[in-house]
Amino acid sequence: MSNLQSNEHHAHHTQRTTRHVEKLEWNDGLLLGHGPMDDEHREFVHVVMALRNSTVETALTALAAVEAHLIAHFDLEHEWMDKTAFPDVYSRCHRDQHDEVLASVFQVHQLAAIGQIGLGAVHRLAQSLMDWFPGHADYMDSSLSAWINGQTHGGQAVVLRRNLVHEDRIPGSESNYEVDAKAA
Ligand SMILES: [Fe+2]
Ligand SMILES: [Fe+2]
Repeated sequence: MSNLQSNEHHAHHTQRTTRHVEKLEWNDGLLLGHGPMDDEHREFVHVVMALRNSTVETALTALAAVEAHLIAHFDLEHEWMDKTAFPDVYSRCHRDQHDEVLASVFQVHQLAAIGQIGLGAVHRLAQSLMDWFPGHADYMDSSLSAWINGQTHGGQAVVLRRNLVHEDRIPGSESNYEVDAKAA
């Protein structure tokens, strides 16, 4: 874990949220409520477990897949932060964690590609990612997800309220929902 934990700036976050994960499996408990982010996280689980189970023959392909996935996944989250003016105080720490994780993956990928490290080191990277992810999702991505939903849909309150309005709505009338959404 040393590469993932090296930055003092948020070492306390990592320590607080990292624990050993035997097997990372997708389940509804990992859903955060922002659909496109949940899709990224589902893919994260898939590519990281493929890396954890990789063999000498498949390790480099699995590393390339994790690297490509993480670049896209993190870029998307950064784009959402920018678009929704996610407060700096939260985004700085969040981006730092992404940068460190990506640096570790780049390093292991490069060394593995030239034969400097073996399968054990590749599997240790996969384990680090498995241990890191639940805490990062709980602590950092969940606040971003809630923020995005709050910015784009007026937050969870509107979702609940929309259901209520649906029940009461006069057939053919859209006005109840519009009035309600503006009020929220
Ligand atoms: Fe994420
Ligand atoms: Fe993130």
